[in-house]
Amino acid sequence: MTEPEQVGFATRAIHAGQDPDPSTGAIMTPVYLTSTYVQESPGKLKGYDYSRTCNPTRTALEANIAALESGAHGLCFSSGMAAINTVLNLLQSGDHVICSNDLYGGTYRICTTLYQKFGVDFTFLDMTDLAILEGAMRPETKLVMIESPSNPLLRLTDLKAVAELCKTRGILSACDNTFATPYLQQPLGMGIDITFHSTTKYLGGHSDVIGGAIVVDDPDLHTRLAHFQNTVGGTPGPLDCFLTMRGTKTLHLRMERHAANAQAIAENLESHPRVSKVHYPGLASHTQYELAQRQMRNPGGMVSFELDASVEDAKRVASSFKLFALAESLGGVESLVDHPATMTHGSIPREERIAAGFQDGLIRLSVGVEDLEDLLADLTQGIALLDRS
Ligand SMILES: Cc1ncc(COP(=O)(O)O)c(C=O)c1O
Repeated sequence: MTEPEQVGFATRAIHAGQDPDPSTGAIMTPVYLTSTYVQESPGKLKGYDYSRTCNPTRTALEANIAALESGAHGLCFSSGMAAINTVLNLLQSGDHVICSNDLYGGTYRICTTLYQKFGVDFTFLDMTDLAILEGAMRPETKLVMIESPSNPLLRLTDLKAVAELCKTRGILSACDNTFATPYLQQPLGMGIDITFHSTTKYLGGHSDVIGGAIVVDDPDLHTRLAHFQNTVGGTPGPLDCFLTMRGTKTLHLRMERHAANAQAIAENLESHPRVSKVHYPGLASHTQYELAQRQMRNPGGMVSFELDASVEDAKRVASSFKLFALAESLGGVESLVDHPATMTHGSIPREERIAAGFQDGLIRLSVGVEDLEDLLADLTQGIALLDRS
């Protein structure tokens, strides 16, 4: 393929990192199921020595995801958490980290139950307020970790502004780009140092593989992260890489449909008498609607809404849908529903959860690519349960 930077997103999605196999012409990158590689003489390699360190199927996926993020270097992992862990591996005892306060529950958990005990200090705050962020920065602050849109409240962070704040103080900035995907937003282009993903979600796109990725431009940062990738060993198997790559080929098509369905659903829910609030960056009522227009190609496929309901009633509604499957995760072609308070964000104490702004009655939808009319009908019948209680 011509250099990735010379072609459009869809062309990169389909071709980047994936030249036909030189030995057979196979158009799809083979699944290199091998742990080791025969050396011509000691130390004389054909580019590969051991599959934890590198594997040709993984190399293809890493190049593909880097190209999608318009970044220089990609690294892939066995899960999104393994990718996040690798970003946190850059820290040492005494360092301070600032994170969004409504980020994925597993990210909160790794910070508070693992890194805190090794002497890393964390502050969780509302990243929508740059003055609060700036006020929390200390001389020992080494990393600012953002999720935009955030999970589950779909709040946005002004990535350019945060990147500038961090750069002037020599603080690394990292963005979890899982919800947006590189099709909607490219953090590196806005000055962020590290972008990372749970590729389990939209990049894989078919709910059949767990994975993670990091993309950076800076070669030194890449070397440090690749060192931890190899040292810790949370790397994906070649079949997982193959499946993820099959997903990235259609990312652009899927994201258009996810967003079209999500926009219509968000508008519909906003006028529903049982729904007190809808969180979706494509609604004019979203406090950062203007930022969404500026920062994202479209507002994405995730919608959250609040029912004026107890935990128990919200759980009953979430369990009553027929098409929206009650399941953790997101970003697959099929629609999913989540009750964050008892599922994805159950590890965040209730007081912290409420303080961060998400209520017991919050429901999160991962809007799939099914027929819109069927999804709307399913939501209507599910919420109607509240009228029968
Ligand atoms: C935004 C976000 N980041 C990271 C993760 C962790 O990814 P994984 O489950 O692939 O380890 C998740 C998982 O739900 C997520 O939603």
